[in-house]
Amino acid sequence: MKQQNIYILAIESSCDDTSAAVLCNNKVLSNVVATQKVHEEYGGVVPELASRAHQQNIVPVVHQALLKANIVKKQLDAIAFTRGPGLLGSLLVGTSFAKSLALGLQIPLIEVNHMQAHILAHFIDEGQKMPEFPFLALTISGGHTQIVLVKNHFEMEILGETLDDAVGEAFDKSAKLLGLPYPGGPLVDKNAQKGNEKAFIFPKPKVDGLNFSFSGLKTSILYFLQRNTAQDPAFITSHINDICASIQFTILEILMDKLKKASESTGIKQIAIGGGVAANSGIRQRLSDAEKELGWKTFIPKFEYCTDNAAMIGIVGYLKYLNDDFAKQSIAAKARYVI
Ligand code: KG4
Ligand code: ZN
Repeated sequence: MKQQNIYILAIESSCDDTSAAVLCNNKVLSNVVATQKVHEEYGGVVPELASRAHQQNIVPVVHQALLKANIVKKQLDAIAFTRGPGLLGSLLVGTSFAKSLALGLQIPLIEVNHMQAHILAHFIDEGQKMPEFPFLALTISGGHTQIVLVKNHFEMEILGETLDDAVGEAFDKSAKLLGLPYPGGPLVDKNAQKGNEKAFIFPKPKVDGLNFSFSGLKTSILYFLQRNTAQDPAFITSHINDICASIQFTILEILMDKLKKASESTGIKQIAIGGGVAANSGIRQRLSDAEKELGWKTFIPKFEYCTDNAAMIGIVGYLKYLNDDFAKQSIAAKARYVI
């Protein structure tokens, strides 16, 4: 018989957020995220700067997470950490920290796949309805775009993924072309709400199966802007809302086409969304329309569990703890780590 309350410290450092969380079973006691500002002026994440910032942040972030949870290290039952996928230098910081702490405290170590964690974030208990197996998960962020068939907590199959840019990158790169600051996704969303989504037409890529491609869209936006600003230098400022609405419309069409295809081919109508782009007002509207029109049941976790965070690593840690699925001290970070 397992003990009643399992306390897990979870650590996430796969990209540009240093995060630590403490969970008691499937409930979050604390979830601290230090977002690295250093990348803003470069218009994207600089890997070397990210790992240096993780090194600076990790000790205070873990300390904060324990304080907020009102837990002392001695009470911890296990340490869960993101093994991959992600930037190797960033992953190394969280991995070495987790390994040393687990060794020092003489408690088990649990390795977590970041993509699996985005999906299992739906099982963090916030009193909400949780998806039932099997369901489809759409993970959309600055680093990922995947449609996954989730058979149970640990059996997942990637049905489709991006062949080039992630959807968040498509938002951010389009925003950059419009002169908007990084990350531009939320600003595109904000402007789009005031614009006409049919004002301009951008081509949708032809990609087989359930895979995605977003790099062509960026190029067509670039040419579109070059053409129009050559005739009217103020074109972008005077049409910003319509341009944003049309870009967002195209991106959402690409996502929804594939999601509908995945639902039709599997017969599954439970759709769980995760990743930072789940904050987009347009995708939320489309999903709510699909509930009415297609009979889907859709799930979106609380926003803090959508973006990169350690609470989602902690829930996987808890589920693996129950399965006695522990990692050895010799485990290494894995930049490419398929679900
Ligand atoms: O999950 P996340 O915080 O970090 C990773 O990339 O893993 O996602 C950040 C991404 C960025 O590309 C950001 O522009 C995008 O999510 N994003 C949005 C919105 N909010 C965040 N994109 C479109 N509309 C939004 N409202
Ligand atoms: Zn992520």
